[in-house]
Parts: sequence; structure tokens; C-alpha cells
Amino acid sequence: MDAPVTNLSVSGLDIDLREAICCLTEALNLVGVDERQHGERVACMATETARRLGWQGEALSDLLHAGLLHDCGVSSTRVHARLVSELDWDGSERHCKIGAAYLGSFRPLAHLAPVIRWHHSHWSVLSANTDVDEKIALMSNLIYLVDRADALLAQYRRGGDPAPFDRIRDKLASLSGAFFAPSLVDAFLECSRGEAFWLALEPLDVAEYVFHFDNPGAPRIESRRDLHDLASLFAHIVDAKSPYTYEHSRGVARLASRLAQLDGLSDERVCQVEIAGLLHDLGKLGVPDEILESSAPLDHDSRAIMHRHSYDTFRILHRIRGMEEIAGWAGCHHETLIGDGYPFQYEASRLPREARIIAVADVFQALAQDRPYRKGMSPQDVLSLLVKMRDDGKLDGEVVALVAGDLQACYEAAMPKEGNGLPWGGAE
Ligand SMILES: [Fe+2]
Ligand SMILES: [Fe+2]
Ligand SMILES: [Fe+2]
Repeated sequence: MDAPVTNLSVSGLDIDLREAICCLTEALNLVGVDERQHGERVACMATETARRLGWQGEALSDLLHAGLLHDCGVSSTRVHARLVSELDWDGSERHCKIGAAYLGSFRPLAHLAPVIRWHHSHWSVLSANTDVDEKIALMSNLIYLVDRADALLAQYRRGGDPAPFDRIRDKLASLSGAFFAPSLVDAFLECSRGEAFWLALEPLDVAEYVFHFDNPGAPRIESRRDLHDLASLFAHIVDAKSPYTYEHSRGVARLASRLAQLDGLSDERVCQVEIAGLLHDLGKLGVPDEILESSAPLDHDSRAIMHRHSYDTFRILHRIRGMEEIAGWAGCHHETLIGDGYPFQYEASRLPREARIIAVADVFQALAQDRPYRKGMSPQDVLSLLVKMRDDGKLDGEVVALVAGDLQACYEAAMPKEGNGLPWGGAE
């Protein structure tokens, strides 16, 4: 999907795919703002319903993954709010196509792309579509069914009903055949009869359910290509949040990788720096669109929300075993050498070279690109500001010197590449 990674060796790389999916789903949860863990609840209800139908092994595991990631095509907090508050919405098709393209770009989960593609299609239409495999159609429609159960749950609770379980069941039963496959509705009605089904969706319970779910074969991410593609998938999700963040993560990753090479780091390190660049703003998924796109200076509360994004990035990545070091670099991209950055306020002695490279690449890319409150700066103006930040003790002088010696190429690495993203380009 992006430029080839420099080193595809497998040495030392061993990440549990399930663990990576579960942790990265937490980044998607952030998009929900007030309505978190939608993916987990959908995964839980879908797999419980499928068990009732006799599904087992990999089919269940696939369903869990599809449930967790089904809304990966949603980066905007506004779009998410509509998806969980309206039963049937004309605009829902777009995030299905985007999510399917994302998943299709990551080899270990590419087979689930069609499931994501059809997860808001009515059964009356989907079952007549001869291009869609029957198993895929059922899996998609099951996600649609429980996705709507979760949307109704949020909607009725907001209306003041804390336990609207029968109302949800009645509503979904009335849509059997039209929206949903009758066999799926019947299984759902059977297993959602007791209130335990609904109580198991509470935050701690549903997180535990997903965490302990059977993981047949325990698939691993063992190639740098796959790790790069997974990071790139999430970079697309983050960058799609706003026109002003278009390709930001990918620009930072390209520039950081270039600077790491110029700095003489090993191929393996260069690769890791690139992955940290792709993922550095993962926590931004939790920043409401209005704050991210604000052209006015942020007030105290909005700044606090904005400032927590690098901590969220750290927290999410740090839970993936094998990515602890990358988490540290990515989480420190707003730290400064004099210790007045955020979220840790680390001083220079605690900031490794890789973190300093990402910090410089982040500032460079942000300055070079148009923002809500100003146009993008020229390479020379960007460099002048980097030099000032170096003089103020914020950025590493040796890394800024690498930029100064390679300015035009750094600028080209940082700027969006036409045709380098997914087909629709830009934001939602
Ligand atoms: Fe959806
Ligand atoms: Fe959803
Ligand atoms: Fe950031």
C-alpha cells in the first residue's frame, strides 16, 4: 500500500496477531468518545450467536476479528455518533467500502475484507447478490444484526431505559427477512433471552470475554512486511480523520525513516522507526473532530483532551508484546529535551535517538502541511523554525543538522504523495 519497507527480514520479530488486533481495536474504541467498546460488544454478541448456530474454531475466530474491526472505516467522531444513534443511515455504505479496502491491504486479515464490505447491507439485497459467497454473506449479516442491537441499546439507554433488552429483541425480530437472515435472528433471539447476555456486554466483562477468546493456531506476525502493513492500515485510519491530517502519519514515517538512515541506524532500526512514525498519532482517534479542526487556540479543557493523545498511543502500543520499544518512541513524540513536553515530561537523558528523530519528523511534517489556521510552510521556513526549536532546547541538534543537510529530500519525503494512499484519498 505504501513504499516498500527497507528490510523484510524476519529476525527477532514475533508478535501475537490476536494481541495486536485486540490492542489496536482499543484505538478504534477511542473514536466512539462516549460510546466506547462498540467493536468488543459486536464481537461478543456475534460470536455468542454463532456458537448457538454451531460455528466453531477458525470461523468463530474470524468472526471475532471481523467484529472487533468492522468499523475500522470510521475515523470521524461525528460519523461514529451517527452510526450508533440511527438504525439505518444512507451514509453508512462509505465506511464499509473504506474498511474493506483497509483490511484487504493486510494479508493476514485480507480474507475478512468482504465481511466488512457488506456489514450494513440488508439481507433482502445481500442474499440475492450472487457475487457474495454464502458464508461471507451470513458473517456480514450477523455483524450487521448485532451491530444494530448495540446501536439500539445506546439509543434506548440515552432515552432513559437502562434495560431495553426486550424492546431491542422485538425490534430486530420485526426486521427478520428484510434486514437480517431469519436463521440469524432466531439464533440471536434464543441466546439473548436471559439478561446475562446483556450484562456480559459491560466494559470489564466484554474486555475479558475478548481477551480470553479461543485463538486456534495462535497466528503470529513474523514478517516485517506484515507488521508494516498493519501499521500502515492504522496510519490510514488516523490520517483519514481530517483533511488537515491527510497523510500526516505516513509523511512522518517516511521522513523519520529517511532521517534514521542518514543517521546510520541499522536497517532493522530504520524499519522500527518507520513503524513508530506510522503509529505515533494513534491516540488522536480519541480527539473529537471539533477540537482537531479548531482554527482558534484551544482552551484549557480542549488542550487537555488533545494532549492525552500521545499517552494513549503509548498505552495502546505498549500492551502489544514485542512492540514496547516502538511504543516508547511513538509515545514520546511531543517530549522535549528540556523536559517541558508531554505526557511524561522526560528530559534528554530519557529520550533515545529514535524518539528524537520522530519528534523532529512530526514537527517538520506538521509545519510543511496546510493546517486549519495557516498554509503549509516552505522548506526553508520549516528549517528556520526547527533551528529555533533546537535553540530553545526542544529538538535534538544533530537530528536538525541532518534535516539541514538534506532539506529538499526531507521536504519531499514529508509531503503527501499523490496516489500513495487508498483510492478515495483524504478524509471522511
Ligand atoms: Fe458499521
Ligand atoms: Fe458498528
Ligand atoms: Fe501528535
